[in-house]
Amino acid sequence: MYNLLTRSFQAVARPAAYALDWDEPNLLIGKDRFKKLPNDLIDQNISRLLIVTDEGIRDSGLLDDFIEGLEDKNIVYTIYDQVKPNPPIDICEEIAIAFNHLHADAMLAIGGGSVLDAAKAAGIAAIKPEKPLESLTGLMTVRKDTPFLIAVPTTAGTGSEGTLAAVVSDNKNRKKVTIMDTHLIPDVAVLDAELTKTLPQSMVAGPGMDALTHAVEAFIGKSNTKHTKKYAKEAVKLIAENLLEVYDNNKKDEGRENMLKASYYAGQAFHRAYVGYVHAMSHALSAFYDLPHGQTNATILPIILRLYGEAVHEKLAELAEDAGIAKTDHSDAENAELFIETIEEWNAYMDIPPTIPEIEDADLEELAAHAESEANPFYPVPMIFKQDDLVEAFKQVRGDSNE
Ligand SMILES: [Fe+2]
Repeated sequence: MYNLLTRSFQAVARPAAYALDWDEPNLLIGKDRFKKLPNDLIDQNISRLLIVTDEGIRDSGLLDDFIEGLEDKNIVYTIYDQVKPNPPIDICEEIAIAFNHLHADAMLAIGGGSVLDAAKAAGIAAIKPEKPLESLTGLMTVRKDTPFLIAVPTTAGTGSEGTLAAVVSDNKNRKKVTIMDTHLIPDVAVLDAELTKTLPQSMVAGPGMDALTHAVEAFIGKSNTKHTKKYAKEAVKLIAENLLEVYDNNKKDEGRENMLKASYYAGQAFHRAYVGYVHAMSHALSAFYDLPHGQTNATILPIILRLYGEAVHEKLAELAEDAGIAKTDHSDAENAELFIETIEEWNAYMDIPPTIPEIEDADLEELAAHAESEANPFYPVPMIFKQDDLVEAFKQVRGDSNE
């Protein structure tokens, strides 16, 4: 009965999604594209700009040429640089206040997923100051235009520069607030490989595996369209061809641009076709133990793919082919296992741990409840897990089965 209700919800949600406005951002791709952006702002009649970022990006000097360009063009700007990882709601509210105080025409978010998501949520707070952000958890709850948003990713992973999702943290209730609304799709996305040149290896690995998780969870789910399948497959191909190379040597412009594209494509796949239990569990773990999102996904991904079993063999075998690792004499089950083993090998190569031993016994039920309420009935997962199944899954993630 539970499975039937869950699938019924998804059967209604799937056609309803076709009625939404899935406009993609205006995509600006190329080396040094960010530096040239002030010209585009003038073309868009933007004369007052709020820049949202974190202290690390500001100190790195990545903004310097752009700021010089703004000053040359007499564009008034303020920089908000206090975004933190897993951004709490109060930071989003501070950004909204800064935006309204400046009477800005647009917001420009430059940073990793936390910065982009904080700016998206801040856009909601700017137009709905009376509404607590945590009350807007869910799908299509904003229903109103948010401020013009330019998203400039400095990591290749979240895909947030092209998606309808903003994930922020409700620290009071140890919960992630996930808001999904097509009004949150940025107006412009800038993919400039110059901005990812100095990333440390851990910031190539975690976000890169986050992008892979987006592509895989979207592709094995039940809400794919022709477009989301194409985007997911292309993302897997680009990640297989480029991630480890960029991890080893971040100096190759082409590899970094390919990873930015992969991240964007994976974002386009999952924001229409959704993610699944890997993300639901990862969000719960991040909220409890403040763990990094991409790396946590990477640890969980092979475990959940094996738990899905036969239900995903055919699709994983197809992705194995896209990744260039499938063997022609293998069955789908064998190629699916090869794909899962390859994920484990990539994790090991990039020093991503195979388990998360921090998980405490006392938290298991609550973690499972959080993951279940995020995923069911919302995510069109290939196989429905109930709370008990998720407790077992969290135990495996902790490494219990390896004892
Ligand atoms: Fe993610």
